[in-house]
Amino acid sequence: MKSGRGSALLSSPKHEPVEVRGGAVQQPAGGVAVDIRGLRKSYNGVPVLRGVDLHIDAGEIMVIVGGSGEGKSVLLRHIAGLETPDAGSIHLDSMDLRDYLALPPGKKPFRLSMVFQSAALLNSMTVAENVSLRLREYHTRPPREIARIVATCLEQVDMSGTEHKLPGDLSGGMRKRVAIARALAVEPQIILYDEPTADLDPILTEQIGELVKRIQETRGTTQVIVAHNLQLATHIGTHIAVLHDGVIVDYVPAKELSRSPNAHTQEFIRAANLNL
Ligand SMILES: Nc1ncnc2c1ncn2[C@@H]1O[C@H](COP(=O)(O)OP(=O)(O)OP(=O)(O)O)[C@@H](O)[C@H]1O
Ligand SMILES: [Mg+2]
Repeated sequence: MKSGRGSALLSSPKHEPVEVRGGAVQQPAGGVAVDIRGLRKSYNGVPVLRGVDLHIDAGEIMVIVGGSGEGKSVLLRHIAGLETPDAGSIHLDSMDLRDYLALPPGKKPFRLSMVFQSAALLNSMTVAENVSLRLREYHTRPPREIARIVATCLEQVDMSGTEHKLPGDLSGGMRKRVAIARALAVEPQIILYDEPTADLDPILTEQIGELVKRIQETRGTTQVIVAHNLQLATHIGTHIAVLHDGVIVDYVPAKELSRSPNAHTQEFIRAANLNL
């Protein structure tokens, strides 16, 4: 691990309680499994998802790859509960997603965060206000504790001291990291990332990849990542799922992607290498 900034929460052994700034101890949130069965979705009569089956173990890093327009963002939005499927089911930790969504925030047995493709920060709010948005909505923590959590989460993404900046003052990579800090602030058991490294240079891409791995190691969070970058996918992923023609056509341990016998996967790898 790189020393200095960001190490306060992250250098503890796997899933142990971790000390944060000021001596407080946070219990790691752990992760929950995601089970997707027969998921179908059409828009204006055009099918996008044609029966997606995918199981994601608690605490794993699942990377979903596929060509542009194959439905990766649509699939992620379904897991986040932002879209209603035409058919099929999604279970989080054996709980039907519809039941989970029906519960008020304070009654949900676990939390889910999403990092959107565009970072989606609110431009009129400071970094601190963006990161603490959901925490403030819950009305369960005093302002001082919220400020401490914000500082800790910003530290984790190497953005300490940016609390009072506005998103417009930040670079694209910094905004993406603030979006990840915002996702971390509610101590989620699942984080969904839509193209977290799109538009980032190779060094920032590597940093985000390392951050995702550290979140897995220190918090045990289940993480689902849509990514085009196959090098990153094989480096950080536990499994890789390939979405094509509305279904998962291949599912492999990340390190074995290049050995997959699937013709579409091989074509995808070949095309990705051409783009290097
Ligand atoms: N709300 C919507 N209304 C109508 N069509 C939609 C809607 N959302 C997605 N689609 C269509 O679903 C298809 C899949 O879109 P999606 O954004 O999931 O692709 P993607 O795999 O994420 O692509 P990219 O890699 O470019 O981000 C596209 O044809 C898109 O136009
Ligand atoms: Mg997309």
